[in-house]
Amino acid sequence: MSTYDNVIVEIADYVATITLNRPEKKNCMSPALHAEMHQIMKTMDWKKVKVLVITGAGQSFCAGMDLEQCFLEPFDDPEKMEEINTNGFGWFTAVKNCPAVTIAKVNGWCFGGGMELAGICDIVLAAEDTVWGLSEVNFGIFPGGGTTWAYANNIPARKQALYYALTAETFTGAEGVGLGYVTRAVPLAELDAECERVVGLLTSKGRIVLTKTKEVYEKVIWMDFEPAIDYEMAKLWELSRETNDDWVRTALASFKKREFKPGTQSYKLTTEV
Ligand code: ACO
Repeated sequence: MSTYDNVIVEIADYVATITLNRPEKKNCMSPALHAEMHQIMKTMDWKKVKVLVITGAGQSFCAGMDLEQCFLEPFDDPEKMEEINTNGFGWFTAVKNCPAVTIAKVNGWCFGGGMELAGICDIVLAAEDTVWGLSEVNFGIFPGGGTTWAYANNIPARKQALYYALTAETFTGAEGVGLGYVTRAVPLAELDAECERVVGLLTSKGRIVLTKTKEVYEKVIWMDFEPAIDYEMAKLWELSRETNDDWVRTALASFKKREFKPGTQSYKLTTEV
């Protein structure tokens, strides 16, 4: 476990857990937190991580940007503002492009930049009664710095997406499932167990297949069907080579011996592929 001033990082059994740790400020993201996260995401040994869980300390997930420290105080210092942006957007981009599967475990308040952070993760597990909001219009701006991208890409229906950006009306974690922002919502008391269950499903798979599944999804959604077929096949053979053809030599060989049922079970990994 590594403790920084603003976050806690734990790494065990191919799972990295990062806890935003400014509970007294509802885990809003200060320039120092951005700098720490930028460094952590840059230096993490991703070959040892299959799943990255991001959560918040105390009763909040993340109350967005630290409005005082990121905007109000440095407003007249353009270089300082630029440094804050470089670190902030740097680590957000690293989360979006992360080779590990990213899970936002949303345990409490989730506003603005916090919604962006959850929105760029692959999976969002939330407590049912958490409160979410695009609060930017409440203080006179629109959701910027990737937050519009995040809400527009997570809430597919225009009439729903724009409504929340225009009104700043909040919604709950449970309502977030219907909107498409949240993968699964459970009572707060069950959130840790649900996260562990999902992490278990993921870590039973190989690291490379998880990374490639994400990579192919992200590229293919922008493609026409026929180029998508070509791209998917090229990536499949790339995966096969990088995993020493484990899917045929180990998994399908094991299926032939009726050792597992691929419909409901994962094959037993022989090496960490
Ligand atoms: N920036 C700076 N300080 C913050 C932020 C923030 N985003 N969020 C909370 N805090 C501070 C509060 O000012 C307060 O500080 P204080 O103890 O010095 O007074 C402390 O955290 C605790 O917050 P409270 O407001 O006392 O907690 P409460 O439970 O009553 O309300 C809530 C929680 C609703 C999250 C409220 O703090 C709030 O509205 N925060 C701002 C949320 C927001 O709009 N974020 C910006 C999104 S837009 C963007 O990210 C660009």
